[in-house]
Amino acid sequence: METRIVKGEEGLQEAASLIKSGELVVFPTETVYGLGANAFDENAVKKIFIAKGRPQDNPLIVHISSLEEVSRLAKDIPDLFYTLANKFMPGPITIVLNKSENVPDIVTAGGKTVGIRMPSNPIANKLIAMSCPIAAPSANKSKHISPTKAEHVYDDLKGEVPLILDGGECEYGIESTVLDLTTDAPTVLRPGAVTIEMLQEVIGDVYVNNKVIKIAKSPGMKYTHYAPKCSCVVAISPESARKCYEEKEKEGFNPVLVYRDIYRDIIHPSEFNFISLGITIEQYEHNIYAALREAEEKYDFIIVENLKEEGLGASVMNRVNKASSNNKV
Ligand code: TXA
Ligand code: MG
Repeated sequence: METRIVKGEEGLQEAASLIKSGELVVFPTETVYGLGANAFDENAVKKIFIAKGRPQDNPLIVHISSLEEVSRLAKDIPDLFYTLANKFMPGPITIVLNKSENVPDIVTAGGKTVGIRMPSNPIANKLIAMSCPIAAPSANKSKHISPTKAEHVYDDLKGEVPLILDGGECEYGIESTVLDLTTDAPTVLRPGAVTIEMLQEVIGDVYVNNKVIKIAKSPGMKYTHYAPKCSCVVAISPESARKCYEEKEKEGFNPVLVYRDIYRDIIHPSEFNFISLGITIEQYEHNIYAALREAEEKYDFIIVENLKEEGLGASVMNRVNKASSNNKV
């Protein structure tokens, strides 16, 4: 199959027709690119699992364009959902609710719950409004790094999908926060740009990690995720990054530092392979997946900056710790 990349707005009509006729379309969101199919069409959703090589026991998120669509997808919806939706939707959050009978089992991997997300990206929003609720995982091959540019998607999925809508670089750069409202206490299954601190402000008695809120069992979390194709470690300080770099070079590797510019002076990037993550934590979040993809293409040992694990730093490090299999130097 030929895979075409079309500028987002120009490709919307065609993309909506493809979705309605049971085909796959890749579309940009504010977090990462999504690989979408009509959420009510079992055969279309099957194609997602095949294209990605995704295990069938890992459920998909359903993307909506307006809150009116929720009652078709979910039942026993708690008031708290609407409180959270009013504050954070559209935006980088997915809320898990009890699924309605309309949602095919393949979407939820046979489970009784469904993740609902309303993207704020205008191309995503228009595509859904012009077609239907769209089931979509991140548009990477299973276990690889999520795509934040159309070219990343093309590298992973060319030949597997007819159309990629190009919306440029994704605004946030890491996947949405996943919050489960079907358990006794609201449970964060995956941290993201809507941070635990932001949720606490709305929900009240939400505690970080192992207290009331547990970072728990999103089925997808049991798989190795976000992994680059070569070794990757997190450096706890610029000094240890430099030391590791020099050691690896002696061992015959071609290492690279993936760091924010504020550490340039300490690690002298002119003498070192260096990929910049920008300056702020938001820029680190925005750039990290593209940086890891660039690093795995050009080098063979990746040394990444550590962030303090609080607020957005905790969400970003959740991904980086996975990419490095928790290896620290
Ligand atoms: O930002 C995002 O969420 C992106 C964009 C495309 O929307 N999507 C995304 O989808 O990251 P995916 O499939 O790569 O990751 C979804 C995660 C997986 O870990 C999955 O197991 C979990 O959410 N998940 C989906 N439905 C669930 C459910 N009903 N209960 C628990 N976890 C669920
Ligand atoms: Mg994914």
